[in-house]
Amino acid sequence: MVKALFSAVASAALLSVVSATPVPDSEVQIDDLLGFDASYVNTLGVDDSKIPEAITLTVEDVANETSTQIEPFLAPGVDAATLEERFIEGADDRKQYTGTAYPFISVGRIQWSNGVYCSGALVGPRHVLTAKHCLISGASATFSAGYDNGSHKGQAQVTTTVSVTTNGGECGVKNDWGVMIINKRLGDSNGYFGVKHVDKSKIGQTGFNHVGYPGDRSTNGQRPFRQTNNKVLAEHGYGCDTYGPLSTNTDCAGGQSGGPFWETLNGNQYYIWGALSVGVTSGGKAWAKWGSGNTMVSTVGRLRTEFP
Ligand SMILES: *[C@@H]1O[C@H](CO)[C@@H](O)[C@H](O)[C@H]1NC(C)=O
Ligand SMILES: *[C@@H]1O[C@H](CO)[C@@H](O)[C@H](O)[C@H]1NC(C)=O
Repeated sequence: MVKALFSAVASAALLSVVSATPVPDSEVQIDDLLGFDASYVNTLGVDDSKIPEAITLTVEDVANETSTQIEPFLAPGVDAATLEERFIEGADDRKQYTGTAYPFISVGRIQWSNGVYCSGALVGPRHVLTAKHCLISGASATFSAGYDNGSHKGQAQVTTTVSVTTNGGECGVKNDWGVMIINKRLGDSNGYFGVKHVDKSKIGQTGFNHVGYPGDRSTNGQRPFRQTNNKVLAEHGYGCDTYGPLSTNTDCAGGQSGGPFWETLNGNQYYIWGALSVGVTSGGKAWAKWGSGNTMVSTVGRLRTEFP
């Protein structure tokens, strides 16, 4: 199973954290939430020889960049008027979503030429935020915005991946985010998300959103699913430092890794707080943990400048 083959640093590291709770290890399950679709192995449909360049920064490299939030972009012609209405689902379960409005066309499916797939979101004209453990070395990749069972709202090849070095533990989860640079400015037409620090005054609140491509709800994660009314949890997380990582009650399965968790401000401004890192079940409860926080936000701001 791909979970074992591509087990992430973050999920391995998380074991030590979870075992600190009074729950037998045998009852703790951690999933790095990667998807695997054998039909794409070496048949990505792009130049499979184009392996993205991998750039690894250190946390210190971006520590001097102190923005607490990076702004979103609503593309001309993109309709945000009906968004609040579209979010109203009532239940907090994942539901298949077939709409093609912003910001959903800024979320997309990442497919690697070794079969691994993940979720991600545009956070700049050609910047896609995903999980660090979704950055596969030695393979090529495409990002398909607004992907739904073969149709999409723009597709581009990944040219560069950027992440920061981590030493595992809770900080490994906090920094289990990565940014992919793609070869087309899809964000100009689709719009893109902002990113911001976790706002701790909103712990315990609901109303946050997530979209991803779970492999348990459609074959090989071909269909997008969203969960509305996600709740930010107080009882797990913030184990690295004052900035993260973020924990929520989001339902998740393989394929959703890297998918965005966002808050809506002023009706139509969308700010990602985190990219899905791992799902944890322990003591009969399940929750999700997210790559999130200051270093992620700083890096997105920096990359918007360095990769225009
Ligand atoms: C932060 O440090 C990096 C690396 O030293 C440098 O390239 C960058 O210009 C600095 N940024 C700011 C905002 O000072
Ligand atoms: C995708 O579309 C094909 C062709 O219309 C259909 O047969 C298939 O069931 C769809 N797959 C999913 C997962 O909905």
